Amino acid sequence: MLVLGIESSCDEMAAAVVDAAPGRPIDVRASVVEGQTEVHRPYGGVVPELASRDHLRAVSGVVTAALDAADCTAEALQGVAVTAGPGLLGSLLVGLSFGKALAYRQGLPCVGVHHLAGHLAAAELAEPDLQPPYLGLVVSGGHTALYRIGESAPEILGETRDDAVGEAFDKVAKLLGLPYPGGPAVSAAADAGDERAVPLPRPMLDDPGLDFSYSGLKTAVSLAVAARGSLSPGDVADLAASFQAAATDVLVEKSRRAMASHGLARLAVVGGVAANRRLREQMARAAADDGFAAVFPPASLCTDNAAMIAAAGARLLLQGERHGLSLSAFSRVPLAERPWSAP
Ligand code: KG4
Ligand code: ZN
Repeated sequence: MLVLGIESSCDEMAAAVVDAAPGRPIDVRASVVEGQTEVHRPYGGVVPELASRDHLRAVSGVVTAALDAADCTAEALQGVAVTAGPGLLGSLLVGLSFGKALAYRQGLPCVGVHHLAGHLAAAELAEPDLQPPYLGLVVSGGHTALYRIGESAPEILGETRDDAVGEAFDKVAKLLGLPYPGGPAVSAAADAGDERAVPLPRPMLDDPGLDFSYSGLKTAVSLAVAARGSLSPGDVADLAASFQAAATDVLVEKSRRAMASHGLARLAVVGGVAANRRLREQMARAAADDGFAAVFPPASLCTDNAAMIAAAGARLLLQGERHGLSLSAFSRVPLAERPWSAP
């Protein structure tokens, strides 16, 4: 089954074509992502209105580019999968409307996909042997959460009580005068720094539960910046490294605790922050020490893309799920709920 996936929940317009059949790994035939870095850079963050306008400009070309790269036409498709939420409503609606219109024109079945189900599907694309039950650590610009992925609906085990970890990376980048997008910039600056230079808290590690908190860590960085007055390049590198270490240490420790307390053997780390090298290294070390398997998608499948949406959607389509033209976008929706699939 050739499935077109469309993802436009935030500031990436993406389209992909996958080939899926029951009982064998999904094959990604093409994956095209068009970012909006230049659109948002002057503002230091994503401006929702500009994001949706740029998606409107880009959507048709990105879908055509994905079909061309997959060497197929709209006539050869057998299904369409689009991100229905969560995300920026205006952005979501562009991909969703385009996907529904294409499905209608071609007489194809169409399904809405939860954005986080897409991120988790990226791990299954990277490691076809990854079968439930496993622990899913979702770390992105909008989410920081641990899920037990089983045969039935995902169970949330812990989540951030305030900022997402990717949001903290982005805000710390601003505090350090680093360019948008912040996560990769902080990570690159940290390579030249000493992660023990600035003592920073490891929030929520004293808390016995599996929740996270990142707003206090961001405030601790802003106080350290203020205490220094002006920042030398060495200060920026040390602050970036110290922040990155604090932010990722908590993710590793809480994941270890969740793996042990839920008796799980496999962990999937997904979302944009899963591209972070220190997180990958430290989690791999913890996995080796504790004896569990840690799966990380390649960086291109960690940040937003449509291959993950097409893969998650293809599974739904193969199970016979169909969402009609009334399929709508939802800005906030828990992973365990898919309100668009209600009759
Ligand atoms: O999954 P994603 O592309 O979009 C959302 O669903 O939010 O994640 C984007 C987030 C941003 O906050 C970005 O700064 C962060 O992922 N990010 C990183 C890295 N690459 C992207 N954070 C830390 N290190 C990275 N290498
Ligand atoms: Zn995402």
